[in-house]
Amino acid sequence: MRDNLRINGDRLCRRLQELAQVGRIAGDGVCRLALSDEDREGRNLVVGWMRDLGLAVKIDAIGNVVGIRAGLEVGPPVMTGSHIDTVRTGGRYDGTLGVLAGLEVIATLNDAEITTKRPLAVAFFTNEEGSRFQPDMFGSLVYTGQLSLAEALATKGIDGATAGDELARIGYAGPEPVGRPRAHTYVELHIEQGPVLEAEGFRIGAVEGVQGISWSEFTLTGQSNHAGTTPMRMRKDAGYVAAEITVCARKIAQALDGYQVATVGALTLSPNLVNVVPNHVVMTVDLRNTDEDRLQDAERRLFDFAQRAAATEGVGLTRRPLARFAPVGFAPHLVGRVEAIARDFGLPVKRLPSGAGHDAQIMAAVCPACMIFVPSVGGISHNVEEYTAPADLGAGADVLLRLLLELAE
Ligand code: HGY
Ligand code: MN
Ligand code: MN
Repeated sequence: MRDNLRINGDRLCRRLQELAQVGRIAGDGVCRLALSDEDREGRNLVVGWMRDLGLAVKIDAIGNVVGIRAGLEVGPPVMTGSHIDTVRTGGRYDGTLGVLAGLEVIATLNDAEITTKRPLAVAFFTNEEGSRFQPDMFGSLVYTGQLSLAEALATKGIDGATAGDELARIGYAGPEPVGRPRAHTYVELHIEQGPVLEAEGFRIGAVEGVQGISWSEFTLTGQSNHAGTTPMRMRKDAGYVAAEITVCARKIAQALDGYQVATVGALTLSPNLVNVVPNHVVMTVDLRNTDEDRLQDAERRLFDFAQRAAATEGVGLTRRPLARFAPVGFAPHLVGRVEAIARDFGLPVKRLPSGAGHDAQIMAAVCPACMIFVPSVGGISHNVEEYTAPADLGAGADVLLRLLLELAE
């Protein structure tokens, strides 16, 4: 009976579609920045679904939400989930698939009147994206004791807001102590957000781990001056040094090749006027690699270059670390089960690392964790055109259903 159990793909897609209306932006994208009004509206919708499905909803002091389904026995739940906050130009599947597929598993078990031995839990963690408040994944970091609640609540956002104030404002500063319930295991279904599965004709990704992430903010302080009268030899052009750092980041990625990636994603230049030499720049650099030593090498090369370039131009340079995660490996036995279950379903499956960060890499510190990927069309994500075919959404959710059933027995 249980082997023939399958999720209801239409119901899953309906919920994805409904949640995607919250914070909807042009081009069918979504903007639900962490702790924003849109985040509150999305949270309310998902909490409502959790309650409709009979889950006991727990909200902790950093706003993580866990819906718990009782098992025949009391004990740590088998947990699934992800996030529902998005980047500013987000798609409708990043994070939400993992949360809503978890609810779809619950709905399927309710319909089949199946109660598992272990409890089940579906979670969404606060601020996975880290677009507004850094570091990213601070909800799961607090949940697993890797970041203090006080530090997370004191975090200042890129808009000057304080995380704790915003959490209270949206009504999600919950009563539960953070880190409860302790999970037995954690399985996260997520879109790949990269080109590999689609390009190589695979339907499921058995994710072996997540690459290391290094986020830095650089502040460059030069001297504003007249664009026409100031000889080049006299300039302290912060904008020019920012451009050199940007080019250097790309060259480091090319030099280290392989998995090394580098992104200057945010850059604010002032006074930002056509005829004034810029005197102030705040910029971010995102470096990632599956190998910790190579990631440190990339950091060293970039930071050394930035210092030299700033000194040559007579520009001040400070660096503020925003996030730093070493590469994480998932539980080999769980990775093997994802692969075997996909094969049972006749789904071509590939082992691969995750280029994107996920709450699963944080949960891996406190329990055996793994991820299931489904293909992203064109490898596009963090873009309103993010898309995954309904058949792949359903296939991923069926693999999730089967694995959760196995782990909960
Ligand atoms: O940046 C990341 O990898 C994730 O989307 N927070
Ligand atoms: Mn995500
Ligand atoms: Mn994301």
